Parts: sequence; structure tokens; C-alpha cells
Amino acid sequence: MYFEEVKKKVSKISKKKDIIILGIETSCDETSIAVVKNGREVMSNIISSQIDIHTRFGGVVPEVASRNHVMAIVNVFESAIREAKIELTDIDAVAVTYGAGLIGALMVGVCFAKSLAYALNIPLIAVNHIRGHMCANFITYKDLTPPFIGLIVSGGHSAIVNVKDYTNYEVLGSTLDDAVGECLDKVARVMGLGYPGGPKIDKLAKEGKANIKFTKDSLKNSFDSSFSGLKTAVINYIHSLTQKKKEIPIKDICASLENEAFLPLIKKSIRACKEKNYSKLCVAGGVSANSFLRENLKKEAEKEGINVYFPELKLCTDNAAMIASMGYYNLLENKGISDINLDAVSSIPL
Ligand code: KG4
Ligand code: ZN
Repeated sequence: MYFEEVKKKVSKISKKKDIIILGIETSCDETSIAVVKNGREVMSNIISSQIDIHTRFGGVVPEVASRNHVMAIVNVFESAIREAKIELTDIDAVAVTYGAGLIGALMVGVCFAKSLAYALNIPLIAVNHIRGHMCANFITYKDLTPPFIGLIVSGGHSAIVNVKDYTNYEVLGSTLDDAVGECLDKVARVMGLGYPGGPKIDKLAKEGKANIKFTKDSLKNSFDSSFSGLKTAVINYIHSLTQKKKEIPIKDICASLENEAFLPLIKKSIRACKEKNYSKLCVAGGVSANSFLRENLKKEAEKEGINVYFPELKLCTDNAAMIASMGYYNLLENKGISDINLDAVSSIPL
């Protein structure tokens, strides 16, 4: 009943000149809360990372992540409000990641968001984490507008999408198995590079030569991709050298892995732009911080007259500003407006 009343406020709020959204993100190992004005102006974006806690386990331990979100969330919230220099009554709506992610971790953010929206008597907006990543581009490039092709590369997703409008996505292709970030992280772990492996591979690859061929891209003509075969091939290569007591050429493996992981994604996303006749290509997700991908995609796309957009580095990985931004566009289109029954969901379609 209470939320039914609040839902009626949505159209009035969406007509306001300035709309302030508080975003909440707890899908993995970052507890983040942000305040964003009109979808693009970040007033605060507090990120409390648990990376140091999970590093000793070689990856994120879900139960440990949930407990640490519980411990961090109130402080993160208070800092976000303080830094934005607003009163609680200035917040027009609360946007929260409800999926995809670790279920226990998501539940912390969703419960907090529900309580806050209820207490402040304002709308609650459910946000898809992956669509949130795409909005990091709207914050970085104030004039960027859809339509465009989106290349989503994170620890849990790899997809090529037709972003027809802010809330209207068509998935052209996705990974048939592992995500590209997962592949990088697992290989890095086998090489003893620690967690998260992506940034470490990024750094080491710069000093290596891409002189090892691991697999063939059997999905050349599709927008889908696959990274499990590549991951296994690299791990087998490392194990076989270890058995033979030979030196592991870590830097060359990193460079070769980046080549094989990213070149097909670069080709496919440019082909998607040409097929849809778009001149804009936006990259999103944690792996969009990768320097090989940034340099090579830009270079190849420019040859075809396509402009490439990458979020600024601090917005590539998980943060709540991107969630608040997505919440803003959902609010304007009256989508994702939720009530006290909103549940966290570990796996949701794009
Ligand atoms: O988007 P994100 O923060 O979390 C998910 O939603 O999955 O992405 C995390 C992923 C991890 O796999 C991490 O290794 C990768 O992003 N990553 C990178 C880089 N920075 C983060 N991968 C390659 N190069 C980087 N510089
Ligand atoms: Zn993410």
C-alpha cells in the first residue's frame, strides 16, 4: 500500500528540473553509494573495496563479501551524503543493483535501499548491474546519447549489444561460457599473480611478446564469444611447462592471452557497428580498463570512422554512480519502479 502511493509520485518527480538519485551497489566486493544529479553529475561516489580481504583467498568469497557489506554500508552511506553536501530530504529516489551478482551481497544493498526508500517515502528503482556499467559512459561523456553499439566486458559478462535507447537493449551476442574477465582472473591465479588478475595481466603484457597461439576463434562469424577454451588452453600450456620444469614465460603468456581474448571482441564490435550503421561504440565493465583493449579498439575503430567511448578509469569497475545514472533513466521511463517485495536475483538477462 505504502509503495503504491509512492509510485504515484514518479511522474511528478520525473518532471522536476533537477533530480537527485542515491545509488547503491553491492553486487560483488565493492560497497558503494553515490549521489548523482540528473543522471550525469556525480555529487559523491564512495567506494569501499574489499579487494584486500579477498586477495588472500585468491578470489571473492561470497559469504565474506556479504558480511563485509553489512559492516561497511552505513559508513559508506554517511560519507556519500556528507560529500554530496545534501540533506536526506533532497534525495528524490533510491536506485539499487538487484542483479546480477552474488546473492548474499546483493541482498545487503537491496535491504538497505528498501529501508531507505520506505523511511524517506520516495520511489525505489531496481537497476540491472550490467546496464549500470554502460551508464558510466554517460557520466564520462556528458553529450553522449544512444543509439550505439555497446561492448560489455566484465568479470561476469561479455556481450555485444545494440543500445537502442537508454533502457532499450538488444543483445546481439554474448559469451557461451566464461566471461572474459573470469578467463583473465583464472589464468592469473594459476600463474600466481593474485586477485584480481586482469590489471596484473594488463601490466605484464606490456613487457611481453604475443608469440604464443593457444586456440582458434571458432565463432568468427557470430557475435557470440567463448573464453573457456582459451582459459583451459593457457592453463594446460602453463601446467605442461611446469611438468617439464621449464621456465614460464609469464609476460609473453599475458601478451598472447590479451591478443586472443580481445582481438575477436574488437572485430565483432566493429562489425556490429557497421551492420547497424552506427558510428558510436561504447565499452563498459571492469575489463574496459584494459590498456590493450583501449588502444587497439580505438585504432581499429578509427579506421572505420567509428568513435569509441571508454568510461574514465575510476568508473570502469563497480561503483554506485553508474547505478544512480541508470536509475535516473529508468525513472524517466517509469521502468524498474519497485516495492517492498523487490528481491535480489543472482542471474538476470541483459
Ligand atoms: O565490472 P567489474 O568490476 O565486476 C563485475 O561486474 O564483474 O569487473 C571486474 C573484472 C575482473 O575480472 C578484473 O580482473 C577485470 O574486471 N579488470 C581488468 C582490468 N581492471 C579490472 N581486466 C583487464 N585489464 C584491466 N586493467
Ligand atoms: Zn560490475
